[in-house]
Amino acid sequence: MFSMIILKSSQEIERIRTAGAVVAGALEELKKRIYPGITTRELDKRAEEFLIKKGGTPAFKGYKGYPDTICISINEEVVHGIPSERKLTEGDIVSIDIGVLLDGYYGDAAITLPVGRISSQAKHLLEVTEASLYKAIDISVIGKRVSDISNTIQCYVEGAGYSVVRDFVGHGIGRSLHEEPPVPNYGEPGKGPRLKAGMVLAIEPMVNMGGHELIILENGWTTVTKDGSLSAHFEHTVVITENGPLILTML
Ligand code: MF3
Ligand code: CO
Repeated sequence: MFSMIILKSSQEIERIRTAGAVVAGALEELKKRIYPGITTRELDKRAEEFLIKKGGTPAFKGYKGYPDTICISINEEVVHGIPSERKLTEGDIVSIDIGVLLDGYYGDAAITLPVGRISSQAKHLLEVTEASLYKAIDISVIGKRVSDISNTIQCYVEGAGYSVVRDFVGHGIGRSLHEEPPVPNYGEPGKGPRLKAGMVLAIEPMVNMGGHELIILENGWTTVTKDGSLSAHFEHTVVITENGPLILTML
């Protein structure tokens, strides 16, 4: 038995969409400010101000003791990078993950952005990771199973010569940041719960240029690739409907 996947009513979906639009807006605000010399703390401050101005609460701050509004992960950092006085540098790739709680519902999304000019290899990693997310969303139709999402991501990413992170997964989302079911970025097709109308999933491929193994740093959060290779992360909150998947983390 699969435990407790909470299907959402259309009113609930509208509330998640409202939260999702605020997350998308915050990411847009930060996008404009990704340049060499800006500190990751300044970006965190901007994001927090934006979420609060829109009537929301940062979803990650305080979650299991996480200290800040955004997770900001540079180059070989995979996820959960903590904002600091570190300055972005030309050629970096920077993943920004933002969650908000608004009117009782969560929205969650992430993007990876180039800082100035980046190498063509880094650019390809970003393109493949983002494309794997959109391919996964495209196949998220009623009747498919959760692991069809997983398998779509894994096949596309490995086909490009990269590896998918296994130690962190996507998730259901709604009144909680993390709900059932887990949505891994790897696995056999045709397994796990069937997708149903009203399921809301945060689909979030994390892709390493080298091996999939990770190391968590001393601070207990910042996660890096074991081999030091670059890593990218894209995420959307998506609802399954009778008319196909809809992205809720959009403006
Ligand atoms: N998008 C990630 C997730 O949903 C971010 C969580 S960061 C944490 O798991 F700080 F909240 F843990
Ligand atoms: Co998430």
